[in-house]
Amino acid sequence: MHKTIVLVGFMGCGKTHLGQYAAKALGMEFADTDSLIEREAGMSISQIFAEQGEAAFRKWETEVLRRSCQERGKILATGGGVVKNPQNVELLHAMDVSVVWLVADAGRIYGRLRQDNTRPLLADTSGEAKRRRIETLLAEREELYKRAAQYAFIEEGFSEEQMGDAFVQWLEREIFEKDGKKS
Ligand code: S3P
Repeated sequence: MHKTIVLVGFMGCGKTHLGQYAAKALGMEFADTDSLIEREAGMSISQIFAEQGEAAFRKWETEVLRRSCQERGKILATGGGVVKNPQNVELLHAMDVSVVWLVADAGRIYGRLRQDNTRPLLADTSGEAKRRRIETLLAEREELYKRAAQYAFIEEGFSEEQMGDAFVQWLEREIFEKDGKKS
């Protein structure tokens, strides 16, 4: 079974959507650290942030990431802040996984998250302020994503409709053909 592919990148860059799409197309299993945390906690990410704070969420994230990276054959979406903790980045480097950064620009991310209220780090803003928060956070994190990942899939130039297939073809070409077969 092929090593697990871990998707990192900013909120709204398509980790869950593209991960699910590619897993289906490639006959792999899909998992998502945020969903695993929500299932284990029995509450939403927003509730965890509100009731237990971001630090508690981050601890949980590290634990779930460690467990998930031990399994093979998956496409694993992570939360956009996973790279904030150096321990997580070390873990990603130490495990036998392929880490892919999904690179999206602030404008596209804003377009996707404009109406979204599920991200606690953006929940108290809207309009231009939300766009500026996205730009600031993205600028703070870009270097961290780059450092964490071995590969980068750049969304620019693909329409939303083309993106899923473009990503699958990119995975085939850049990872599976070079690394050997998926199974
Ligand atoms: C976060 C991103 C979210 C979620 C949490 C914190 C972040 O995941 O883990 O709200 O710090 O960027 P998505 O990237 O799936 O939105």
